[in-house]
Amino acid sequence: MVFLNGVFILKNKASIPVMDRGFLFGDGIYEVIPSYQGKLFYLDTHLKRLQRSLDAVQIPNPYTNNKWLEILEQLLGYSQSTNQSLYLQITRGADTQRKHSFKKLNPTVYIESNQFIVKNKSLLEKGFSVITQADIRWSRCDIKATSLLANIMYIQNAKEARVEEVILHRNNIITEGATSNVFMIKDNTLYTHPADTHILSGITRDLVLESAITCHLKIDKSGFTKNKLLNADEVWISSSTREIMPITKIDNCTVNDGKVGHYWECVYNYYQQLKND
Ligand code: PDD
Repeated sequence: MVFLNGVFILKNKASIPVMDRGFLFGDGIYEVIPSYQGKLFYLDTHLKRLQRSLDAVQIPNPYTNNKWLEILEQLLGYSQSTNQSLYLQITRGADTQRKHSFKKLNPTVYIESNQFIVKNKSLLEKGFSVITQADIRWSRCDIKATSLLANIMYIQNAKEARVEEVILHRNNIITEGATSNVFMIKDNTLYTHPADTHILSGITRDLVLESAITCHLKIDKSGFTKNKLLNADEVWISSSTREIMPITKIDNCTVNDGKVGHYWECVYNYYQQLKND
């Protein structure tokens, strides 16, 4: 079952008009919201970011927060497995002809829920490999836009290189991953890129930063260079669907001694605790 413009229908029966601006221009925004044991994880924070993205591109929010909650919970009710990842997309809607400028339209709302397989700790402890590439994306990466051409090319490159993710750098500064935020640890300090327009400020990123007190880490949100990344004690990537993943190989260079570090274990435990709260 999926949700499309007010109705719950079978996915293979769901369709949109060809004049939808999401189809023609990628003119839309989205959210990915995890749900554990039937409970939506940090829904309010996701809805706040949804509102920020909508405001940035002048798409009206079709529903109140209470209505979103009702729809998402109803959709979750159709799914069998306990952990779900909800994909929610709002496009500007369908016009009568293809033109770049827009007028007031009825936004198209599409939501699907998929089983979310959480990697267990022993699998995560094996560590993951990434490659680095220049960040060629536009300068409004803070908007969670559905137009993701650069990101999909990066992820295709990652697939072909048989690695987990592509870590991006702009003017030699690490921004984020193609589908995640990036952290590094050096000498008891947690480094990450500032939440400016060059990254999508992740909901998981905020929780990683929140864990720093418990894990006795200092925080530095001023960013770091690719060279610093390659000499880090620990490197992690984070996202709603990956949670916090330890990276042990970057461009075929081993991170530290190639073993997952103890700070990762602390942030991992912190995050698992939040899921159980
Ligand atoms: N991606 N940066 C980018 C470019 C992302 O695409 C994502 C998430 C994140 C992490 O955000 P969060 O912690 O709120 O999931 C950072 C989602 C999962 C996706 O595109 O499917």
